Amino acid sequence: MSHSRPNGDPTPPSAPAAERQAGTTGATREVWGTRAGFVLAAVGSAVGLGNMWRFPYLTAEYGGAAFVVLFVITLLFVGIPIMLAEFTVGRRSRLSSIGAMRAAGGNRWTVIGYLFVTAAFLILTYYSVIAGWVTRYALMGIFQGFPAETGELFGAISSGWQAVAFHICFMAAVVGVVMMGIRRGIERGVIIMMPLLFLLVIALAIWAATLPGSLAGYGFYLRPDMGALFSLDTLTAAAGQAFFSLSLGSGAMLTYASYVSKQADLPREATIISFSDFGVAFIAGLAVFPIIFAFGLQAEVGESAVGALFISLPRAFVELGAIGRLIAPLFFLALFIGALTSAFSMLEIVTAAVIDEWKISRKAAALGAGSLITVCGILPAMNTDILGVLDAIAGEFLLVVGALGIALFVGWRLDNPLDEVTSGGRQVAGSLLKGWLWVLRILVPVFLAAILLTKAGDAWDAIRGLLLGS
Ligand code: PHE
Repeated sequence: MSHSRPNGDPTPPSAPAAERQAGTTGATREVWGTRAGFVLAAVGSAVGLGNMWRFPYLTAEYGGAAFVVLFVITLLFVGIPIMLAEFTVGRRSRLSSIGAMRAAGGNRWTVIGYLFVTAAFLILTYYSVIAGWVTRYALMGIFQGFPAETGELFGAISSGWQAVAFHICFMAAVVGVVMMGIRRGIERGVIIMMPLLFLLVIALAIWAATLPGSLAGYGFYLRPDMGALFSLDTLTAAAGQAFFSLSLGSGAMLTYASYVSKQADLPREATIISFSDFGVAFIAGLAVFPIIFAFGLQAEVGESAVGALFISLPRAFVELGAIGRLIAPLFFLALFIGALTSAFSMLEIVTAAVIDEWKISRKAAALGAGSLITVCGILPAMNTDILGVLDAIAGEFLLVVGALGIALFVGWRLDNPLDEVTSGGRQVAGSLLKGWLWVLRILVPVFLAAILLTKAGDAWDAIRGLLLGS
């Protein structure tokens, strides 16, 4: 690996810590107040709509336990290594995505930073629309309960001005918190919200176990279809889910790590964060499927992921009567917290990049970026086909490109990545760390390139479908 650095590199790795802390703004960069603050913020970014619904749904669709096994394997060999790669670049440079890539790799690599910011921007435009639906359902669950015709309800609120209104309210909450900054905004928010989310999901799963359909529900969810273990489709689905769910390839983990102290043990934190994300996803499935099965609604689940979440599940809550009135708000509250804390990280990616690049205040950056995202989000809020295309492009395709970029960068270009990883004290076995580098250099790129080919086809089909109106 070359140790020469390009001309004009503003922050050589030997720069004193204080100097690096100063970032490009000249002011001292914020640091997380506590270890739990950083870990919970990263778990908050990871745990979101992706786990609470998409994971159980994909598991049921792609071979049950076989999917879970493949997911854990991708998590170990691809997810955790890439998360650690993002952490390494973020903490080394103490800058957000664009500046970090420029500082650590020179101008050529900056393109990955721009890619991260673009992906985060695009994902937030439609993520916030879905979060708006969740907000609507949570409020409805609390104050009036769901009508019997949940399909009509979803049709009425999922696109059009109602969807726009809730999207704007959701974005306002996200902007408000990000404007307050890392410690006073995001950290304070996640320290209260994440434990509540864990409690809610665990309580829901325990309650669901008492339902008459629980065993059949678990069977449907985890039925091991071992043929799926060796299918490329299952592997691609598991990998795509791992990137989205762990918030990889968009610079979320890089940006959050730019506020982490040098003492933090990055490999340990990456492992804890990834398994917490998986745990919540898995337990969410244990909560959801018994509910669906108690009312024989499984046939609908096969039709559409979104439909099952926003139509079948609320219908089950209606049929549950009084207990459903109690459980529904808790379920949608958990989903709301997951979406909100994920959205913090997406807006923070864009905001931090704007602050570092343009040297403007956090308040102005968060408000400006948030407003622009809110305006762009009106499109997916008016039209769910556009929402689907944005998801195929940004949520599925760009994240994989971003992950590939950061893996190649840390594997082949970054100077002494192992020094950064081990700066936190407790030493990981050297061979494990070398193994990590080789995973980034060879295994991850080959694997991701294969996945990209499939995803590129999917994204292209989605765009063509929208343009041709089919
Ligand atoms: N991980 C989040 C979820 O599962 C989504 C996300 C993607 C958040 C990319 C940040 C960046 O819902």
